Amino acid sequence: MPINDEICLFSKEICRKAGEILLSGFRSSDTEISYKSRTDLVTNMDYKSEKFLYNSIREQFPDHDIIAEEGSKRDSNSEYLWYVDPLDATNNYAHGIPFFCISIGVYSRSSGNIVSGAVYDPCHDEMFWAVKNCGAFCNFEPIKTSDIQDMGVALFATGFPYNKDDMKRNNLTEFNRFLPQIQCVRRLGSAALDLCYLATGRIDGYWEPMLKPWDTAAGSLIVSEAGGKVTKYNGDTYDPEYPEILASNGFLHSRMVSILTDI
Ligand code: IPD
Ligand code: CA
Ligand code: CA
Repeated sequence: MPINDEICLFSKEICRKAGEILLSGFRSSDTEISYKSRTDLVTNMDYKSEKFLYNSIREQFPDHDIIAEEGSKRDSNSEYLWYVDPLDATNNYAHGIPFFCISIGVYSRSSGNIVSGAVYDPCHDEMFWAVKNCGAFCNFEPIKTSDIQDMGVALFATGFPYNKDDMKRNNLTEFNRFLPQIQCVRRLGSAALDLCYLATGRIDGYWEPMLKPWDTAAGSLIVSEAGGKVTKYNGDTYDPEYPEILASNGFLHSRMVSILTDI
C-alpha cells in the first residue's frame, strides 16, 4: 500500500478510537474543565485523547514527527509531520453541544504538501478524509464542494479568535464586510469541521484568522481534494503554519479575496 494511504488509513482508525474516548466523557461529570485563559478552555478529555493519539502514532510510525495541540511533540526533522488536534471545538464539548471532532493532517516535508487528512465527528459518525491526489470522502461516499456562484445566496462559516478584545484582529471588520453581501454566516465552533462542511457542499465559503496548523491541516486537503480552493486571505498558497485561512468552492474565491484584502 502506498505510504500516504497507509498513513490515512491509520489516521482514520485512531480518530475513530479517540472519538470513543471523547464520547465517554461527553456531558459527563468525569469531564473537568480548566482555563488556559479566560476564554480558552481545555478539559481532561483533550489530554486523554491526545495521549492516546500521540502514543499510537509513535508506536506505528516511530520515525515520524508529531505536533499536537496540548503540547505532545516529537521534532526530528523527519519526512512526515503529523498535526494533531485531539479535540477541535473544546468549547462546544465543554458546553454539551454535540459538534466537535478529532483532526489529523500529515505534512510531507519533501513535497511541501499535506498528503493525508482525517477529521472525525463522533456525534454524527462522520469520517471526512482525503489522500493527496485521490479525492475526498465522507465515510465511504466521495464528496465535492458546491457549485454556487452567486455571493448573494452563499452560506459562509467563520470563527473568532480567543483574544476577542483586540478590535483590529478579532474578525469583526471582516464579518461586517461579508454579512450584507451573502446569504448568511455560521459560527459552528470547529475550524476542522467548517472545512469539511465546505468540502461536502453544506457551506460555500469559510475564512478565519489566528488558527494553528492542527486546526486546518487535515481540512485544507479535504477541501482541495473535494474540488475547492484553499489559500491565505490574499490568494497566496495555503501554508499550515500561517495563521489565516480562506477556503471556498472555487467560484467565490476571488470575490472573497477582494473583500478580505480591501480592509
Ligand atoms: C478552536 C476551534 C474554533 C476556532 C478556534 C480554534 P479548539 O479549536 O477550531 O472553531 O474558531 O480558533 O482554536 O481550541 O477548540 O481546538
Ligand atoms: Ca482546534
Ligand atoms: Ca483542540
